[in-house]
Amino acid sequence: MTDKNITKDVIYEAVAPDDFESMLHLDRYGNRSTAFDKIISATHDHFWDPLDKKYIDFDEPFDMENEALLPEEFVGALQTKYVQDILSDPKDRIRFINASTLRSFSSILHGEQGALNLSASLCHVLYDQGAQEYAANQTREEARHVTAFAKYVKSRWGRPVECGAALKALLVEIIEAPEVYKKIIGMQMLVEGLAMGAFANGFKYNRDPVAKKLFQLVMTDEAFHHKFGKIWADRTVPQLTEAERNIVEDWAAHCAQSLLFNNGSPTQQAVIYGEFGLDPERVVADIMARRAARDPSRKMKGETNVFRVLIKTLLNAGLITDRTRGFYAAYVDMDELRAEGDRMVGDDIAEDGIRFLQAINFKDRAGVAIAAE
Ligand SMILES: [Fe+2]
Ligand SMILES: [Fe+2]
Repeated sequence: MTDKNITKDVIYEAVAPDDFESMLHLDRYGNRSTAFDKIISATHDHFWDPLDKKYIDFDEPFDMENEALLPEEFVGALQTKYVQDILSDPKDRIRFINASTLRSFSSILHGEQGALNLSASLCHVLYDQGAQEYAANQTREEARHVTAFAKYVKSRWGRPVECGAALKALLVEIIEAPEVYKKIIGMQMLVEGLAMGAFANGFKYNRDPVAKKLFQLVMTDEAFHHKFGKIWADRTVPQLTEAERNIVEDWAAHCAQSLLFNNGSPTQQAVIYGEFGLDPERVVADIMARRAARDPSRKMKGETNVFRVLIKTLLNAGLITDRTRGFYAAYVDMDELRAEGDRMVGDDIAEDGIRFLQAINFKDRAGVAIAAE
C-alpha cells in the first residue's frame, strides 16, 4: 500500500494493479465495507437489457435523410454566416447536423468503452471487497452501455468515427494510472459528470425517440456511478493536507481540460467540415470569432450547458479553489452554480427512468431512491 493513492478512508484503500497476492490476506475477507451496498443492491431495480425489446427497440426507424436529430442551434458551425450560406439547402443542413451528431455519439461510445475498462481496472486495485463488488457491478453496467450505444450507432449511421485525440489520451491515462485517486476523479467525477450533463441534454433535445429512451436508460445507471465518486470526495477531500489537495485539484483540472477541449473545440469537428465542402480553417476561425464577440457568460448559463454537472461536482467536492477557479469560470457561471443546491442535473430524469424499469422488472414494488450511501 502506498500513499501515492492519497487514500483517506479505508474503503478506498488500494494496492498496485499487479499485486494480486495482497487480495489473499485472511483478515481482508472478514472486513468487507458496507458503504456501497445500497448502490449494489439497487442494480436490480434499474436492470435493463439493450438486447431485449421490452426495454428498447433499436429497430425502430428514424428518417435520417429528412429529419435532423437535433435543433440547428445546437450545432455551432451552423450559427456562422459562412456555413449558412454554403449549406443553404435545408437537406444539407439536416445531413450536416446528423453527421455532427455521429461524432458526439462516437465520443460517448468510446467513453463507455473507457468506463468499462476503467471500472474493471478498479477491481484490480481496490482492496476492500465491498468496493470491488461495486466496481464489478459498474463494469457490468458499462458493458451494457457499450452494447447499447454500439447498436444505436449501427442502426443510424452504420459505423462510429474515430475517438478524438484528447479524449483518447485521457482514457488511456486514467485506465493505465496505478493511483486510485486518478481513476476515481478522472472517470467517476469527470467523465461521468460530463456524461450526465450530455445525456440530460440528449434526453431533452434529441428528436429520435430511440435516442431519448437510450439516454434515459443509461442515466439510470450513471447516476449511481457518479455517486460513487461523490462518496469518495466526501470521505477524502476534507482529510487532505494542503499539498495533497493541490495535487488532487490539479489532476481534476487536467482531466477537465481534456474533456472540455474534446467537447468544445471546433477543431475536433474539422473532418466533417471538409466532407461538406467547407474550408475547415475558415469554419473554426468564424466559430471562434463568434464566441469572442458575444457576452462571454451567455451560453454558459442554464441547464443546457453540458459542462455543468462536471464542474458542479468538483465545486461541491471542494476541488475548485481560487487556484483553479478562473479556469472553470471560462466555461460556466460559477456564481450561478454555487447558488444552486446539491441536486444534480439529470437526477430527476434518472429517477423517472428507474420508475419505468421498476414497472417492467418488479410489477409489485414501489418507491425509488438514488442511494448516496
Ligand atoms: Fe456508462
Ligand atoms: Fe458509468
